[in-house]
Amino acid sequence: MLEVSGLNKSFGSFQAVNGVSFSVPKGGKLGLLGPNGAGKTTTISMICGALHADSGQIVLNGAQISPETHALRKDIGYLPQEVALIMELSCADNLRFFGSLYDLNPAELKSRIDWALQIVGLIDKKDQVVRTYSGGMKRRANLAAAILHRPALLVLDEPTVGVDPQSRNALFDAIEGLCREGMTLIYTSHYMEEVERLCDDIVIMDHGKVIVQGPPSKILELARGERRVKISFDPPYEGAAERDFELPDLGPSLAALLNDLAQKGATVTAVQTSGATLEQAFLNLTGRELRD
Ligand SMILES: Nc1ncnc2c1ncn2[C@@H]1O[C@H](COP(=O)(O)OP(=O)(O)O)[C@@H](O)[C@H]1O
Ligand SMILES: [Mg+2]
Repeated sequence: MLEVSGLNKSFGSFQAVNGVSFSVPKGGKLGLLGPNGAGKTTTISMICGALHADSGQIVLNGAQISPETHALRKDIGYLPQEVALIMELSCADNLRFFGSLYDLNPAELKSRIDWALQIVGLIDKKDQVVRTYSGGMKRRANLAAAILHRPALLVLDEPTVGVDPQSRNALFDAIEGLCREGMTLIYTSHYMEEVERLCDDIVIMDHGKVIVQGPPSKILELARGERRVKISFDPPYEGAAERDFELPDLGPSLAALLNDLAQKGATVTAVQTSGATLEQAFLNLTGRELRD
């Protein structure tokens, strides 16, 4: 559905996006992960036609897109990182305004607005002025505006940042529902657990470059060597009731460790393991935490 290749973007002498390539199949759910400043927003701004690329190609459904190819953008729904709504209008009026930008007849527009409000859970609050909404409600209203034309590709830029837990759940339910209907998704985040829950493919970016693309299982493999084991002893062993170990695997290495401890006279009462996490994979790949 989307193929991005060799995308570059500089601001002055600073290269924010450096040779970024990735692809998303139809119905795919791609998580775009990276710490602040990695170049995620710049990348998707170019995909959504909000920013010119210096070089590289963006091909959507076989056609090359740029900010000039407006017609192709009807296939994209874009939730920008900053809320983009008219604060003095009600949510319903915002949706009527943004919906009027698409080729929908009035009856169609009305039913799309009801559909979108239902999905984001704002039907009861639709006549309230958006300025009085919480941060999370504004994001949900903005998502409603992004889906009115039922885009084939939905691009969400950090939809849950600064959002209260209730809105976060509502946003997740909405996004999962849209994915079930077959929408293709690009989900930008620096929260590993969100991407783990929603996405079937992950691109990790840092310093303007793609470090790796693959399904969560492949990314998790990159976190091998970081499996932690907590072992409890009773009576305490060498003065400790508990000790943490790092093992290359939870099979032979764990068995060898337990045998060794038994030989040294330790009585093991519990073994707690924590498997590889995407967070750990990220740290291994980039040498830094996902959240600064
Ligand atoms: N319009 C701009 N002018 C100058 N620098 C920019 C501009 N937009 C982004 N940058 C810089 O480019 C880098 C990547 O930014 P961005 O794409 O917003 O990262 P992310 O979304 O991953 O946090 C950052 O260092 C940011 O400061
Ligand atoms: Mg960003």
